[in-house]
Amino acid sequence: MPDISTDMASTDDDDVARPPGPEDAASTQTSPEPPRARDQEDQGATSPDATPEPPAPGRSWPQLASIPVDAGHLERNLIITATRHDPAHGAFDVLRTRLVNTLAEHGWTRVAITSPTRDCGKTFTAVNLAISLSRYETHRTILMDLDMRNPSVATVLGVDDPGSMGDFLQGRTGVTDLFRRVGRNALNIGTNLAVAMNDRVEPYAAEVLRGPETKLALARMVDELDPDIVLFDLPPALAFDDVIAFKDQFDGILMIVGGGQTKPDEVHEAMRRLGEDVPLLGVVLNQAEGDDALGYSYGY
Ligand SMILES: Nc1ncnc2c1ncn2[C@@H]1O[C@H](COP(=O)(O)OP(=O)(O)OP(=O)(O)O)[C@@H](O)[C@H]1O
Ligand SMILES: [Mg+2]
Repeated sequence: MPDISTDMASTDDDDVARPPGPEDAASTQTSPEPPRARDQEDQGATSPDATPEPPAPGRSWPQLASIPVDAGHLERNLIITATRHDPAHGAFDVLRTRLVNTLAEHGWTRVAITSPTRDCGKTFTAVNLAISLSRYETHRTILMDLDMRNPSVATVLGVDDPGSMGDFLQGRTGVTDLFRRVGRNALNIGTNLAVAMNDRVEPYAAEVLRGPETKLALARMVDELDPDIVLFDLPPALAFDDVIAFKDQFDGILMIVGGGQTKPDEVHEAMRRLGEDVPLLGVVLNQAEGDDALGYSYGY
């Protein structure tokens, strides 16, 4: 297990009040008498031209297949926020809270997770952060494995047949074909977390991410799942142009820095390439030399 620490005080805010979640959306859907029909009856309205009620946002949650939760597998894959045996999970709770606050201040929802080079801990951060966020049951959290150069979220979560992200982004499959929801579990991982994984490398990943079909696929996801926070696990910014190609689809960047591995020049060069107009939400120092620290450097 990694010995991860943070230079910030840990917060434990899991006891927050729980407002209506996706289950409630399900019960709305199965309501035997839709509100519009009732209104019309009351007013004696019979017009056949009445505009139909738009489909409820977030309506697809009840239809998502579930991701089984295997505590041993998650622990072996360093998903320390799942079992919470390792006190280092507190660092992710701090990151979660700061991120949620920053996003709320600006009315943002979509976070790109990248790093200058490979193996800095993007997927490690993305999955741990998503599980930490899932315990905010006030929020619907989405994690998408958009690293189509090296997809690995499914492996980390122990899902054998995750499907193809490329097919979803290009409109060949729908939201309920790819997204899965964390099932009820003894670890108290929130079930308001949906994950879209991927099992194949996409040679034209940047072109797919930039394409108009991807924009439409993401709009469908937002409509059907109505998320509060979306995390995109993306490839390294200096190795590929995927993050730049995808720039219009996210609100800000979480830059993962591999301690003892990433050079300051590489961070600056990665940010320069992304452009000054891309908000930097924070820099996460993962596996700092000497003490394996996970530190959250600064917010936007
Ligand atoms: N803080 C940490 N302590 C110990 N091991 C870690 C830590 N962070 C990441 N690792 C391990 O380092 C390896 C690389 O991490 P990860 O896959 O998250 O990096 P990545 O940036 O997503 O890589 P890629 O660029 O290939 O997608 C993994 O085996 C992961 O379990
Ligand atoms: Mg990765």
